[in-house]
Amino acid sequence: EPAGSRSAVRNIKDEATRKKVEEILNSCVLDDATIKKIMDVFEDQINLANTLDPEKRKKSNLLWECTYVRNLLTGKENGEYLGLDLGGTNFRVVRVVMKDGEATTTTKYYNLDDKILSGPCQHIFDHIAESLESFLKEENITASCLPVGFTFSFPSDQKSLKNSILVTWTKSFKCPDGVGQDACVMLEEAIARRKDMPVKLDVMARISDTTGALMAGNYADKKCRIGVILGTGSNAAFVERIENYNKFEGKDPDTKQIIVNTEWGAFGDNGCCDFYRNDFEREVDKYSNHVNSFTFEKSFSGMYLGELVRLVMVKLVDEGCLFKGNPCPELKKRWEFPTSYVTSIEEDTDTSKNTWSVLKALNLADVATEEDVAIVRETCAVVSERGAKIVAAALAVLLQHINLPEVTIAFDGSVYEKHPKFRIHIADLLAKLVPTTKCTMIMVKDGSGQGAAFVAAVEYKPS
Ligand code: GLC
Repeated sequence: EPAGSRSAVRNIKDEATRKKVEEILNSCVLDDATIKKIMDVFEDQINLANTLDPEKRKKSNLLWECTYVRNLLTGKENGEYLGLDLGGTNFRVVRVVMKDGEATTTTKYYNLDDKILSGPCQHIFDHIAESLESFLKEENITASCLPVGFTFSFPSDQKSLKNSILVTWTKSFKCPDGVGQDACVMLEEAIARRKDMPVKLDVMARISDTTGALMAGNYADKKCRIGVILGTGSNAAFVERIENYNKFEGKDPDTKQIIVNTEWGAFGDNGCCDFYRNDFEREVDKYSNHVNSFTFEKSFSGMYLGELVRLVMVKLVDEGCLFKGNPCPELKKRWEFPTSYVTSIEEDTDTSKNTWSVLKALNLADVATEEDVAIVRETCAVVSERGAKIVAAALAVLLQHINLPEVTIAFDGSVYEKHPKFRIHIADLLAKLVPTTKCTMIMVKDGSGQGAAFVAAVEYKPS
């Protein structure tokens, strides 16, 4: 339903204000025709990404990357494996012990200081090798050699299961170097620089967090065919029938399927999403770390959702509809309205307790009226729903492409985990857009790292 018909806005007393608020919020509402168009454009981009003709392929921003992961867990795995996960808000080490296919998992989080993300990237790799060393020591790991899967969640040109070349940094990573380098090589070099590693490590795969989520989802539910990250950034991977996939050369008769990493975050970098983008999305991009890059995820992922809401609120303030007469200096600071505020406001009940605490943090609690609170809540709701619908449109195309009667989708990431309504909006729209597929959505917390250990478990061949 259009934002203008929602009660919070309908009850605004002053008519001119009400009209203005409706107009601004409506510019964030996606109608059915626009959603259909997102689906069509996404499908075109998939077809272009999957051709063998290099000229055509260049017309798509989707990497449609070959992961070289062809095996899912069989339930017979044994042994001990490590997953390392770099690419989100912190670095994670995951230890998985498999006994006849049953996994016991230990996960630890290590802080990634904002400063370190500006590079040089050797510092990042040294930091993760150091964290890894403390993990091995704290956990008293005694194995003589451990197979390691490395989740490195940045667009990469995958050359083999292990070797991949970084295409660009994304999200909050902005090292001046690293592009063109191999993530596993950088990791191995950093490990070699540590003189006191207690265990010999065999780094054998680089995967994306999406592949990890998919593997972890498939462990929990055999119908899982798609892994989605809705965190700082966003992306999806899925299990493709080998005959549908053109980018994998070494086809042997035993290979029936392969995991494809879409890198959908970059969808729209060539302008093909401009038809739906609004002023707020364009402004987020303009002031982001990587301008004109990763257009799609800038409409909804965790790094940007709060900023989108903030920009809508600033517009409402500038138009005289919100916090009347207050200059709102705290609200005007770029990137100072984290997505966790949106999540917390969306969790609010009748008392609007959470919204009031956010307003307090922004020094606005003394000036805000009940009407302001209602408008703030409505802004969060509208911007979140827009984001969820954009995700659902792309997911619907993947579901149609997979074309199975039942599919489970595994999600990992803070937006999916913490936002109370995002997943509901996605589920509602998927049911409408793809009625022929019975779709189940599950959360795989830390699946992105756990999945790297699973890839190690299915692909490890001791030499
Ligand atoms: C960004 C990265 C992508 C990753 C996603 C989710 O889009 O480029 O590789 O999978 O974030 O973390």
